[in-house]
Amino acid sequence: MKRVIIGNDHGAVDLKFRIVKHLESRGIEVANRGVDSGDSVDYPDIAAAVCGELLAADADGNSFEFAVLCCGTGLGISMAANKIQGIRCAVPQNIFAARMAREHNNANVLAFGGRIEYHEPVEAMLDAFLDSTAEGGRHANRVNKIMALEATGDR
Ligand code: RB5
Repeated sequence: MKRVIIGNDHGAVDLKFRIVKHLESRGIEVANRGVDSGDSVDYPDIAAAVCGELLAADADGNSFEFAVLCCGTGLGISMAANKIQGIRCAVPQNIFAARMAREHNNANVLAFGGRIEYHEPVEAMLDAFLDSTAEGGRHANRVNKIMALEATGDR
């Protein structure tokens, strides 16, 4: 069974539940590590917890296919996630970008905003990501260059 881990702050509780429902309707097991109420929390803490678990699970061979992170905009939580070694967090604007996030960027985290009015449903963006695969080839070369930047800290 596919497994996905999800986390959210208080700015995206409803969106998180929508995403969980959608993923479960596709037969995916979802680990909910976000908050379920509107009480204020700090999105970097959620990003750190979810990405830490994603990477640890990878190392254990008990892996999640990817993670989903949600805050009010998807921006702050993605910035935090992308500071963590091994994370490639994409913030898709639409279905096309969600597919590219997998095919070209081999993202392991997707971020969305609970206060954003998307022109295409987040569920359809998730489907586009789920139903695509990383293309490899020249794209893998570029992804390797992204990860090399992380290692060297080049400016
Ligand atoms: C929380 O109020 C809000 O700042 C957060 O959810 C997110 O939008 C940050 O980028």
